[in-house]
Amino acid sequence: MFPFMNAMTEPILRLYPPPFAEVSLQGLYLGQRLHRLGTRKSPFVYANFVASLDGRIALEDPATGKTYLPKSLTSPHDFRLFLELEAQADCLITHGGYLRALADKDLGNVLQLGLDAESRDLAEWRKTEGLTPQPAVVIASASLDFPMPPSIRENGQACYIATGRNADPARLEYWRSEGYDVILAGRDRMVEGAPLVRKLGDLGYRSIYLLAGPSMLDTMVRDGQLGRLFQTITHQLLGGADFRTVLPGPELGPAGCLKLRSLYYDPTSPAGAGQWFAQFDSASIKPPHE
Ligand SMILES: NC(=O)c1ccc[n+]([C@@H]2O[C@H](COP(=O)([O-])OP(=O)(O)OC[C@H]3O[C@@H](n4cnc5c(N)ncnc54)[C@H](OP(=O)(O)O)[C@@H]3O)[C@@H](O)[C@H]2O)c1
Repeated sequence: MFPFMNAMTEPILRLYPPPFAEVSLQGLYLGQRLHRLGTRKSPFVYANFVASLDGRIALEDPATGKTYLPKSLTSPHDFRLFLELEAQADCLITHGGYLRALADKDLGNVLQLGLDAESRDLAEWRKTEGLTPQPAVVIASASLDFPMPPSIRENGQACYIATGRNADPARLEYWRSEGYDVILAGRDRMVEGAPLVRKLGDLGYRSIYLLAGPSMLDTMVRDGQLGRLFQTITHQLLGGADFRTVLPGPELGPAGCLKLRSLYYDPTSPAGAGQWFAQFDSASIKPPHE
C-alpha cells in the first residue's frame, strides 16, 4: 500500500475528479487561485472547517461550558492548507468570540501569515501575486465586547468592525473613538451576509476568507454568499456528548446544496488515521447586490 508519509512534500492522492493521481500537498490549495475568482461587485467568499467522521468541529467541556478544539482534530497537513487559503485572501472575517479566545490564550493567533519559517513561502507568494503583505481583518460582532489584539495594527492590517444597526451605541462610539471603521451590515444586532459582502466589495476586497465559526458560516450560507467550502474530514470518531457542528441554525433546505469540486486523500495524517480534503462549490450563490 502507501508508505508512511509525513513530510509536507510527500504526495497525497487525488480521488476526484478523475484520473486518480498522486499530487503534492504543498501548493494544493494555492493552485485554486481563489484571489482571482471574485470581483468588487461579487467578491468570492470561502470557508474552511475540519470535522470528525461523527460530525464534530469542537467539543464542549461540561465543567466550564467552554468549547475547545480537541488536539487530534487538527494536523500539520490540514494547517498548511488552512494557511494556503489564508494566503489567497485579501480580507479575513473573524469574530468577537475568536478575539476573546485569543486574549484568554485558548486559541493561537492566525490573523497574520508568513511570519515564521513554515509559512514564509506564503508571504513571498502573496508578494508575487500582487496581494498586500497581510490581509485586511473584519471582526464580526453583535456584542462589540472583545479585546483588540495589538498584532493587527503592528502588522499594518486594515481593520473593520462589522455589526448590525441596532448595536449598542456606546460600544459603537468606543470603537470609533479608537480609530476603527465600523461597517453596519444588518437590520438588528447581527451581521447579515449579503450587506457585509457588498460593503467589502465596495471597499475593494475580492477574496474573503471566513476565519470564523459556524454562526458566521450560517450567516453567509443563508444569504447565498458562500462560494466554496473547504472541508477536511478527519477519519476519527471523536465522541463527546456536547459538541458543535459546521452549521448551527434551523434546517437549511436547497441553500445547503453543494457540488463536490475535488477530493483528496491524505492516508497518513493524523497519526493512526487519515483524512479527506474535500472542496465543494455552492449551488445557490447570489450576487450580493441582488
Ligand atoms: N473545527 C473547525 O474547523 C472549527 C472552525 C471554527 C470554529 N471551531 C470551533 O467551534 C467552536 C464554536 O465556534 P466559534 O467560537 O467560532 O463560535 P460561533 O458561535 O460561530 O461565533 C461566535 C461569535 O461570533 C460572532 N458572530 C457570529 N455570527 C455573527 C453575526 N452574524 N453577526 C455578528 N456577530 C456574529 C459573535 O460574537 P459576539 O459575541 O462578539 O457578538 C459570536 O459570539 C469553537 O470552539 C471554535 O474553536 C472549529
